[in-house]
Amino acid sequence: MLLGDVFPNFEADSTFGQMKLHDFLGDSWGVLFSHPGDFTPVCTIELGRAAQLSPEFSKRNVKLMALSVDSLQEHHDWSKDIMAYNNTEPGSQFPFPIIADDRRELVEKLGMLDPEEKDRNGMPLSARCVFVIGPDKKLKLSILYPATTGRNFDEILRVIDSLQLTAHNRVATPVDWRPGNSVMVPPRIPETEAATLFPAGIYTKDLPSGKK
Ligand code: BEZ
Repeated sequence: MLLGDVFPNFEADSTFGQMKLHDFLGDSWGVLFSHPGDFTPVCTIELGRAAQLSPEFSKRNVKLMALSVDSLQEHHDWSKDIMAYNNTEPGSQFPFPIIADDRRELVEKLGMLDPEEKDRNGMPLSARCVFVIGPDKKLKLSILYPATTGRNFDEILRVIDSLQLTAHNRVATPVDWRPGNSVMVPPRIPETEAATLFPAGIYTKDLPSGKK
């Protein structure tokens, strides 16, 4: 999957029932993220963190979907462990679907495998892949971590804030940007146009190359 590609409208079994990606997303943004396996420590804590942050994703009109090559029954059983790890009220529902890709169709099609991490049959496990999909169903961002490196879900929220801001405004966000910080004028906007676009003023710095 390359940036700008329309994400395949796959059908899959999930803990929320049979789903078809584009119907599930509707007008929302989506984050599809894979993990190596159910009942493993890093994955349990990662999905626990994603569950804690799920109201933050909802606030941004983003629907989360997890995925691994485990079965639906394993996902149902494991989600109870994740909720218990988080000390969530017993009986409450896990907040987003976990897709069962036990036939390995999606992980192979979407390049979500980690060749270094194998199951007990020697088959590669899914890596920690993150795909952010826009309301137009196009891929907006992808990050691929190996199985041995847990993700930072605060960073995923941060990049979504940038993606949503830059989707609607002619700005770019600088290194380590956080909502509320200053933004940058993309280099393709001429200085004269930028002065009209940003009447509150622009900070520029002269550099040895002569460029600002
Ligand atoms: C884990 O989730 O703990 C894990 C899974 C695969 C490789 C390493 C760690």
